[in-house]
Amino acid sequence: MNSRRRFLSLSALGSLTGLGTVKAFAQEKSVNGSVILSTWNIGIRANVRANEVLESGGSVLDCVEKGVNLIENDPNAGTVGIGGFPDEEGHVTLDACIMDSAQRCGSVAFLQHIKNPVSVARKVMEETKHVMLVGEGALNFALKHGFKKEILLTERSLAGWKKRIAERDDQLPEINVENHDTIGMVARDANGNLAGSCTTSGAGMKLHGRVGDSPIIGAGLYVDNDVGAACATGWGEAVIENAGSAMVVELMRHGRSPQEACEEIVQRIANKFQEWKPIQVGFIALNKVGETDGFAIQEGFTYAHHSGGQNQSIKSKSLLKRDA
Ligand code: GLY
Repeated sequence: MNSRRRFLSLSALGSLTGLGTVKAFAQEKSVNGSVILSTWNIGIRANVRANEVLESGGSVLDCVEKGVNLIENDPNAGTVGIGGFPDEEGHVTLDACIMDSAQRCGSVAFLQHIKNPVSVARKVMEETKHVMLVGEGALNFALKHGFKKEILLTERSLAGWKKRIAERDDQLPEINVENHDTIGMVARDANGNLAGSCTTSGAGMKLHGRVGDSPIIGAGLYVDNDVGAACATGWGEAVIENAGSAMVVELMRHGRSPQEACEEIVQRIANKFQEWKPIQVGFIALNKVGETDGFAIQEGFTYAHHSGGQNQSIKSKSLLKRDA
């Protein structure tokens, strides 16, 4: 029986008999141990860090946090953490969320001056009764928990912003492999436990105060430890309107492979979002047994896959081709 069919029938059985069957299947297939999947080519470096964390005994939650921290800390990464692309008023405002294998989640949005929003999101998850903090409240919470206030605007990001203002370029920058907008990571440890993270400075030249999909649980990220995990990158409004990542996970629950689930949601966005042709939206997904894939609207989306000691960049399949 091919793996998809087997997962399907066992998932159905699992819903009748409890979750034991799905878990047993995960163990049966768990040959290569951990799997780490993250968006764009920057994911390669993030995966290396994430894997180090797992290998040194960290949890899968530590792995997805520390992996993306590496990119948040890089002032040249472009649209994440320090050096993230400013909004139309020249402010760097960050969105992030994190989710663990116990269905716990934390999120921050419109956070300024703190370069690791995903770690603040983890604190929200672990230290409060809430899921999401925004703006000044999120900043004060971060400062209270020992995060350092920093200037996130770099010479490079300021120069890019000034150029766009001077050119009166009110078009949103194209989101693609040279200009990614988000790092999202989903991972599975050797025991089959899942976690995910997502962090971004959001769409460049966004309105001041705009929040995208990345900190919205179910849109930018979703994890269900019995089924799988997914995260999104690209035009956040289209992802939010379609509850993108939660839908990808839900489709996997109903037997779709990661590729089928990602493709179906990208197609749904194309069917429903009026102006889908010029935008980019991409999803990556990982199921309970460690199968992975991605799918995007435009060509050019890449993701990084780490498993069995190998870390590679994969070109995503897409709905549209560049010359179409
Ligand atoms: N996907 C990131 C954003 O739209 O802000």
